Amino acid sequence: MTIVRLEKLRKVFDNRVVAVDDVDLVVNHGEIMAVLGPSGCGKTTLLRLVAGLEEPTSGRIFFDDRDVTRLPTQERNTAVVPQTWALWPHMTVFENVAYGLRLRKKRERLTEGEIKRRVREVLELVELTGLEERRPFQLSGGQQQRVALARALVVRPEVLLLDEPLANLDAKLRVELREEVRRIAKKLSITTIYVTHDQEEAFAVADRVAVMNAGRIQQVGTPEEIYYKPANFFVATFVGRSNVLRGRVAEAKGEAVVVDVGFPVNAISPHRLKPGDDVEVVVRPEDVYLGGGSLRCVVEEVVFLGRYYQTKLKCGGVALKAEGPRPPAAPGEEVAVEVTKAWAFKP
Ligand SMILES: Nc1ncnc2c1ncn2[C@@H]1O[C@H](COP(=O)(O)OP(=O)(O)OP(=O)(O)O)[C@@H](O)[C@H]1O
Ligand SMILES: [Mg+2]
Repeated sequence: MTIVRLEKLRKVFDNRVVAVDDVDLVVNHGEIMAVLGPSGCGKTTLLRLVAGLEEPTSGRIFFDDRDVTRLPTQERNTAVVPQTWALWPHMTVFENVAYGLRLRKKRERLTEGEIKRRVREVLELVELTGLEERRPFQLSGGQQQRVALARALVVRPEVLLLDEPLANLDAKLRVELREEVRRIAKKLSITTIYVTHDQEEAFAVADRVAVMNAGRIQQVGTPEEIYYKPANFFVATFVGRSNVLRGRVAEAKGEAVVVDVGFPVNAISPHRLKPGDDVEVVVRPEDVYLGGGSLRCVVEEVVFLGRYYQTKLKCGGVALKAEGPRPPAAPGEEVAVEVTKAWAFKP
């Protein structure tokens, strides 16, 4: 059980690429923290810093009270499942998993019998028993992913670091395996950092989510907090689907504002706004209610997407997307609409 604490952690490559920009983050005992952000935002670099595979430009890393910032990777007791699993193709499943233990054999005085026992135990945990003698090319993608996970777990790490571990798998398998990863990490109570650019995966796997953009943590919170109380424009638009409308504040009272976007919208804002401020209003399509309201909109297009219908509306010159369980009307018809929830952010 370990608490991971990052303090003003910064990594600059080649004196100019700021990959990780003054990151403060605490991951609690046995907690699964997802790091969610777009490609190139610094997720892998952050993970490699924690693992000791990369040296920070400044800032510090603590495991509990121990400052591990300058500790070499093999003394940190972390395990990484890299973005490409990189199994050794010439080794069997058993040897792939045993590899980390063989490296530690001397230091930890492990016997061959002990290694066998621990590999068997962890293969059982990831449900690969019986496949010990296969080589990676004889496994499916999902099985290879389990080997990569077993290889990380077999050394009994204090901190488990997963870098987009499911990115190479098809959608259905990703859903199955993310549940599996959560079950295993929770069963072993390992403090886990799980990097992904997939919002649904982050929400499904993690206890809390750190949303990252351009090297900076934008917000840390439970999935509900991230979804329902986005801290800024980036989080509001990166997480979930959204309409973005430009407008000007007409009235402001604490966090509640009325914004003129061509029609008035009631919104909440984390900023102190005043009348006249230019803002960007974010509205989730599910918060555009099509069963009545003061807004008159024309239906432009209705698309059936399986779980819901997506409707494109034109509301007095403003385009708005809505989502709902039923098609509201046919294209060309007028409907009454209410925007039930919105946020306003400074541009
Ligand atoms: N060794 C390196 N030398 C120079 N620049 C690097 C190095 N590694 C990463 N970068 C740069 O740092 C930034 C962050 O990269 P990083 O790999 O951490 O992003 P990421 O969030 O993991 O992206 P992805 O989702 O595509 O994997 C990028 O601009 C990248 O080009
Ligand atoms: Mg990456």
